[in-house]
Amino acid sequence: MTALVTGGASGIGRATALLLAGRGATVAVLDLDPSGAPDPLLRVRADVADDASVASAVAEALDRLGGLDVLVNNAGIGAAGTVEAGGLDEWRRVLEVNLLGTVRVTRAALPALRASAAASIVVIGSIVATAGLPERALYSASKGAVTALARAMAADHVGEGIRVNCVHPGTVDTPWIGRLLDAAADPDAALTALRARQPLGRLVSMDEVAHAVAYLASPAAASVTGTELAVDGGMAGL
Ligand code: NAI
Repeated sequence: MTALVTGGASGIGRATALLLAGRGATVAVLDLDPSGAPDPLLRVRADVADDASVASAVAEALDRLGGLDVLVNNAGIGAAGTVEAGGLDEWRRVLEVNLLGTVRVTRAALPALRASAAASIVVIGSIVATAGLPERALYSASKGAVTALARAMAADHVGEGIRVNCVHPGTVDTPWIGRLLDAAADPDAALTALRARQPLGRLVSMDEVAHAVAYLASPAAASVTGTELAVDGGMAGL
């Protein structure tokens, strides 16, 4: 199996890339700063918000991988605040990365996926795509958009043998959340609040999300397409 993981140098993407590689896949990581991706992962540098950068990096990754079975659209950035927060330039930037980044990488990868006998795409959404959380208007809009996109792509490409599914993590213990906590006025209180938000009473681990992605990308999920799998400590369902 060959796989390309965007944003694979940190957090959920890195854990996913390492899990897939540990299961025998040849894995390339595409990232703004791929240096965080350890061996045996292949590294390509790109900004998913930039057309030329994505085109050349995906071409290089496909060349080095020798084909593509699995695309994990994981690269993403956050934003806080209500619909009134931030300038429209910030709104455009987040949509440019989270939504159009997924579009760019998928367009570049589809020809190779069509040639695979076991092709699938996994999109990393977020529980904010399905549950209303305060102060996350822009981020939620971007994740709702990629979730709907995943469903639409599942319908468009089912006839080509390409499965498309979405994983909705709750709050995951990644460097991103570490940065948010570091910036909080009271990091301990902020962590307690994040834990309390999830009925299981703790943050989700990166590996738990990686296992969900690996399942959806595997032959065990050969009948699974157009779905959303929440890995959220019970946040949405309970
Ligand atoms: P992270 O910040 O630890 O890692 C994100 C990676 O994406 C970094 O290596 C970064 O360099 C890369 N990246 C960011 N912008 C990029 C761009 N324009 N082009 C190429 N690479 C870029 O983040 P984390 O927490 O692992 O998040 C990964 C994904 O999971 C994101 O899409 C995020 O929205 C989603 N997610 C995270 C949750 C969490 O609690 N950490 C919860 C729900 C969803």
